[in-house]
Amino acid sequence: MRVGVLTGGGDCPGLNAVMRAMVRKGVKQYGHEFIGFRDGWRGPLEGDTSKLDIPAVRGILPRGGTILGSSRTNPLKAEDGVRRVKENLAKHEVDALVAIGGEDTLGVASTLSDDYGIPCVGVPKTIDNDLNATDYTFGFDTAVNIATEAIDRLHTTAESHMRVLVIEVMGRHAGWIALHAGLAGGANVILIPERRFDIDQVCAWVESRFKVRYAPIIVVAEGAMPKDGDMVTKDGTLDSFGHVRLSGIGDWLAKEIEKRTGKEARTTVLGHIQRGGTPTAFDRWLATRFGLHAIDAVHERDFGKMVALRGTNIVRVPLAEATAKLKTVDPSLYEEAQVFFG
Ligand code: F6P
Repeated sequence: MRVGVLTGGGDCPGLNAVMRAMVRKGVKQYGHEFIGFRDGWRGPLEGDTSKLDIPAVRGILPRGGTILGSSRTNPLKAEDGVRRVKENLAKHEVDALVAIGGEDTLGVASTLSDDYGIPCVGVPKTIDNDLNATDYTFGFDTAVNIATEAIDRLHTTAESHMRVLVIEVMGRHAGWIALHAGLAGGANVILIPERRFDIDQVCAWVESRFKVRYAPIIVVAEGAMPKDGDMVTKDGTLDSFGHVRLSGIGDWLAKEIEKRTGKEARTTVLGHIQRGGTPTAFDRWLATRFGLHAIDAVHERDFGKMVALRGTNIVRVPLAEATAKLKTVDPSLYEEAQVFFG
C-alpha cells in the first residue's frame, strides 16, 4: 500500500514520533510505502508532497514540531476542495491517508471519510487534551511539564517581591493544561474556560493569600471568562475553522487585581513555549504507540477510525465519535482543586 501522511493544526511535541513509528513498522512489517503531504490539508489540496521513508524519519523521535509542516487549511472551505484532494491523492497513488491532528484536522478527515469515501485514519494530537474518545492526546504532558516548571519559578520571584503573578497558559475551550499544571505547581487560583469566574472572589483569594505572608500565583487558561464578560481576544480575525486568536485574559486579570486590591500584579504569557521543543518521555511513548496502531488500522483497511488511549490500551474509535464534541474539564475535578485556592 502507499500511505499518505499529514500533520494539521497547531504543532505539538510528538508529531515526529508518530511518523517515525508508522514508517518504521509500515515499511519493516508490512512493506508499505509512504508519502508526506506538506502543511496539513494544504498538502493534499495543492498536491504538495515530501519524501517520507526510513532515512527521512531517522533521528526525529525527540524533535518537537513536525518535519511535514502544519497549517490550519480547511479543504472543505476551499473552492472545489474535495475534488482537488481526491485528484491529488489519485495522482500520487495514495491508498490510505493518515491525518494527525486535533478536532479541526480530524473533523475534516471524518467528513472526507464518511461522506466522500476517502480512506482516512486519524491520530489524535493537541496540547489542549480536549479531544473526545481518548484519555490523553500526546503533547499535553509536555505542555503541562513546561507550565509546571514556569509556575515553580514564578513562586520564588513572586515571594521575593510580594507580588501577584498571573500566568496565562493555552486552552481555548478546555482548561486541562491550567488545571493539571496549576495543581502540580501549587497555584493559589486556577481559572478555566469551563467555569466563569467572579473577579471579586479572585481578589478575595489574593487578599487571603497575602495574609499568610505569601504571594499568590494565578494560573489562567487563555479561554477563561469573567462572569459578566467574554473571551479576551488578540484581534477579531478568524482562521479557516472559525477560531479567533486568543490571549490577553492574563493582562486583564492583573489590571483588575491591582485596581481592586492595591497589590502589584504582573503577567507571564507562556504562549508557544508550551508547544515547542522536545516531547516528554510520556508523550514519546504515547505518540509512538499511536503510530504503531495507526499503521495497523491502515493495513487492515479499517478506515474512518481514530486510534485512542483507554487506560493503557490503544483502541480504535469512529472518527465521527471522536470529533462530535470536545472533552472539557469535569466540574468535580475543578471542585477538588478548589481546596488549594486562596
Ligand atoms: O489548538 C491548540 C492551541 O495551542 C490552542 O490552545 C491555542 O488557542 C491555539 O492552538 C493557538 O494556535 P496558533 O498558534 O495557531 O494561533
